[in-house]
Amino acid sequence: MNLDFTGKTVLVTGAAGFIGSHLVDRLLAEGAEVTGLDNLITGSMENLVEAIKSPRFDYIETEVVEWALRQAQGKPTPETSFNMIYHLASPASPVAYQHNPVATYLVNSLGTHHLLELAVQHKSQFLFTSTSEIYGNPLEHPQKETYFGNVNPIGPRACYDESKRFGEMVCSIFKSRYQVDCRIGRIFNTYGPRMQADDGRVIPTFINQALTKRPITIEGSGQQSRSFCFIEDMIEYLIRLMTTPAAANEVINLGNPEEITIRAVAELIKELTGGEAELKQVEGREEDIERRQPDIGKAIALLRYHPRISFREGLDRTLAYFQQP
Ligand SMILES: NC(=O)c1ccc[n+]([C@@H]2O[C@H](COP(=O)([O-])OP(=O)(O)OC[C@H]3O[C@@H](n4cnc5c(N)ncnc54)[C@H](O)[C@@H]3O)[C@@H](O)[C@H]2O)c1
Repeated sequence: MNLDFTGKTVLVTGAAGFIGSHLVDRLLAEGAEVTGLDNLITGSMENLVEAIKSPRFDYIETEVVEWALRQAQGKPTPETSFNMIYHLASPASPVAYQHNPVATYLVNSLGTHHLLELAVQHKSQFLFTSTSEIYGNPLEHPQKETYFGNVNPIGPRACYDESKRFGEMVCSIFKSRYQVDCRIGRIFNTYGPRMQADDGRVIPTFINQALTKRPITIEGSGQQSRSFCFIEDMIEYLIRLMTTPAAANEVINLGNPEEITIRAVAELIKELTGGEAELKQVEGREEDIERRQPDIGKAIALLRYHPRISFREGLDRTLAYFQQP
């Protein structure tokens, strides 16, 4: 597989976020010229401390929807055009998107539309980061790309789920109407260094509860399951999804199928942090998802990749990050 990005101009929206910043680092390491956009609604400049030292990285602090609209109205020049666009900007944790519902649905709907207009002008390849949440509370297990989902359009997660579904629809229209080479990655739970300690996602929450000697709070029975993918594996997937010719115009689940209950996650984090943390059961979330596990057959077949980092190793590395002074 040709992973040489030398001379390629790549736009990354959501560059200061958890996944976006790791993607920027990897693209720079592969030789790309990277422009990163972020309005820091949930991201942090600390995630880009290494990237901003690179002469091949240009950072613009801006809101993506308006920026893309303005750019799409202008004329691209060879200096300003992008070979590839990765659209990652969106609040991603339930706490963040429920706090910013309008910004969330706008960046995934209108933001995707304007960035795709830009992709038409620049003849860019386009990659949209969708989510396993488009499957809602799935009635099919594990979830294949062919499953249409079970989503409540007015539920507590709807600003996120439905706008990602809308974003996928916009991609499909630009593929068929304007022949944009558009790839959709449906990302399943991803974790690792640079997650925000207080963003409400389960792994940083449990780790930080254990490290600050507070009880680890298990919402509901703890029997609900998730499948967690370590960030390094997710970045490999995103790189391959953009560069693999066979992935053009495909929708592909990206994740690690290793399934684990939330109670088992809590017990493992308790063990890794010295075994003293108390496990405390609290009320479950409204419309919490019972089971989530990707079928990654398509990713293996097309991208020729299967996650390599075990959950235990990934947790060790995440814990080391949160233990840094
Ligand atoms: N982390 C996961 O487990 C996961 C799972 C499924 C899908 N995803 C998707 O991957 C992408 C990245 O997720 P993440 O975990 O890195 O989240 P994150 O919140 O850490 O990063 C998102 C970044 O986008 C920026 N942003 C949001 N709206 C913006 C706007 N309108 N203009 C400019 N910048 C904006 C935020 O400031 C942040 O830096 C998101 O699209 C998310 O939906 C993530």
